[in-house]
Amino acid sequence: MIKPGTVAAPQHDDMSRPPAPADAPPADTAPVVFRARGLSKTYHAGDVAVPALRAVDLDIRRGEFLVLLGPSGSGKSTLLNILGGLEVASAGTLFYEDHDLTAADDEALTRYRREHVGFVFQFYNLIPSLTAWENVALVTDIVTDPMPIDEALSRVALGPRRDHFPSQLSGGEQQRVAIARAIVKRPQVLLCDEPTGALDYATGKLVLETIARINAELGTTAVVITHNAAIAGMADRVVHLGDGRIQRIDVNAHKLAPSELSW
Ligand SMILES: Nc1ncnc2c1ncn2[C@@H]1O[C@H](COP(=O)(O)OP(=O)(O)OP(=O)(O)O)[C@@H](O)[C@H]1O
Ligand SMILES: [Mg+2]
Repeated sequence: MIKPGTVAAPQHDDMSRPPAPADAPPADTAPVVFRARGLSKTYHAGDVAVPALRAVDLDIRRGEFLVLLGPSGSGKSTLLNILGGLEVASAGTLFYEDHDLTAADDEALTRYRREHVGFVFQFYNLIPSLTAWENVALVTDIVTDPMPIDEALSRVALGPRRDHFPSQLSGGEQQRVAIARAIVKRPQVLLCDEPTGALDYATGKLVLETIARINAELGTTAVVITHNAAIAGMADRVVHLGDGRIQRIDVNAHKLAPSELSW
């Protein structure tokens, strides 16, 4: 069971403040949705212990666009998978709002993922025998308040391609179907592990633009892993990981639009 934790519930006492523009970075006062303290993960392969994450402390605020950067093996996917409830930490605590993910059992983690998290991976994992529309529709059977499927597809600019099969779509288009599938359940959190890793430059930009737009328009908290430092300009903050530790966190005073990036 997910146990109620010690993290304060979201504050609703600032109703008198004018709403921030949709594309403004989340204020420092936006509620913290993820709170990691001393978060660690050690994998055991035979006799060998592999420390993948070492005592990470990190707060992520609602609506934030966070980029995780770092060399191969630095723990990026491990951190993302723990945030998404796909893996459980070995030590430390992680709260999502009042859900203690470090104390959750499999059933509670499954519910957490289903209700709160959308995932996008490097490989799109679409079902080849289903159309774009049907791939997105699959998800809507298991959630309570899905977005209309056509809205999810038009948010990734694929409305006209709804009846096409994955083999009839380019890599970037398939990735945008995967994003539509991730957002159709209106997740509060979008976790992306190298979403542009298999794409060329121009297509990668389009995919990033899509993720940035979802973040701005729906207020979805987004955490994006990349090997590409240029992408970092899009983020509110950039977390640099090295050897399982946070080395540095950069704050972008001025976020760049994906079209302004060069790499
Ligand atoms: N299931 C596992 N069993 C054993 N070791 C693992 C496992 N998963 C990850 N590791 C190890 O944990 C460390 C961190 O891995 P992780 O996948 O988080 O790195 P990463 O930063 O995402 O790297 P990449 O950029 O190559 O994807 C690595 O040393 C990796 O070998
Ligand atoms: Mg990885």
